[in-house]
Amino acid sequence: MYGLLRQLLFRVDSETVHEWVVSGTNLVEPLLRRLPPADDPVEVAGVSFPNRVGLAAGFDKNARWIRVAEALGFGHIEIGAVTPRPQPGHPRPRLFRLPEHKALRNRMGFNNDGLEAIKIRLQNARPRRIRVGVNLGKNADTPLEKAADDYQQVMDGLWHCSDYFSLNISSPNTEGLRSLSQVDTLQALLAQLKPQRPLFLKLSPDEEIETYQAIASHAREWGLAGIVFSNTTARREGPLSSVDTLGGISGAPLLERNLDLLRRVRWTVPLIGVGGILSGMDAMRYRQAGAELVQIYTGLIYAGPTLPRHLVRVMKGCP
Ligand SMILES: Cc1cc2nc3c(=O)[nH]c(=O)nc-3n(C[C@H](O)[C@H](O)[C@H](O)COP(=O)(O)O)c2cc1C
Repeated sequence: MYGLLRQLLFRVDSETVHEWVVSGTNLVEPLLRRLPPADDPVEVAGVSFPNRVGLAAGFDKNARWIRVAEALGFGHIEIGAVTPRPQPGHPRPRLFRLPEHKALRNRMGFNNDGLEAIKIRLQNARPRRIRVGVNLGKNADTPLEKAADDYQQVMDGLWHCSDYFSLNISSPNTEGLRSLSQVDTLQALLAQLKPQRPLFLKLSPDEEIETYQAIASHAREWGLAGIVFSNTTARREGPLSSVDTLGGISGAPLLERNLDLLRRVRWTVPLIGVGGILSGMDAMRYRQAGAELVQIYTGLIYAGPTLPRHLVRVMKGCP
């Protein structure tokens, strides 16, 4: 059934479909609410999550889909990236499907309505069972040396209506952002932040293993509550070598390398695994590689809206 709908939707520009889906599903949200809750409670980093499955950052940049995500069975949603001031992002088209790879390529550039508009929506989306993480971004025109000010401003504005923060230093679509993953720079950045909620760090999948090992070994002393692994890849290797070099790739091509890195690094804080989860088996493999929680984005496009509930069911049986 979803396969047929997907064939039709894939004929239209991806971002246009995304907007239709967000508006359309909000209209039928009262009906979706009748579905039974997807329960498998778990506590991670001091936060009680209704289950282990979340919606990854970037799908709901503007906090418009919280109730629908809850109705579809998600236990958490990472909204944003949120920047202090609204910004348009890169010109469209900027979101592309790669069906032969079960992947997406995006160069959105942190398009979002900004902290103040998003605050009002977050306040209005209460009460709720779903946990809300805020993916912290910096405005494109904020110099890298001042990135901490932007991150802090978003935390100060949204802490009272969110459950955790995810510090995004890993988007390939904001110039220079990934340079913040260098250990000294990262340490200096984190020392400037005063998070009022558990702070996760969202990493790129494109660093060397030594960088991950160094970050993992300092994570606790730096006050990190956990790691979100990973963002999209800027690499174009093997089957991806002919794909346009602009932007980050999400979906199936991330899966094997991410699992390998999760297993090889001695992580010292809780992990949220994200990247290429399209089936229950993929989610179980993340769980077995040490992830407490998983998130999906591209899987929702390729496998459809029943995927979150399916993942909750599968992971419930997984110790
Ligand atoms: C269109 C699009 C926009 C995204 N925007 C963000 C973002 O703003 N912040 C972020 O941390 N990750 C962002 N991501 C990355 C996802 O959160 C996720 O880490 C990545 O897509 C890998 O998961 P997936 O394979 O399940 O899609 C975005 C991904 C896509 C496809």
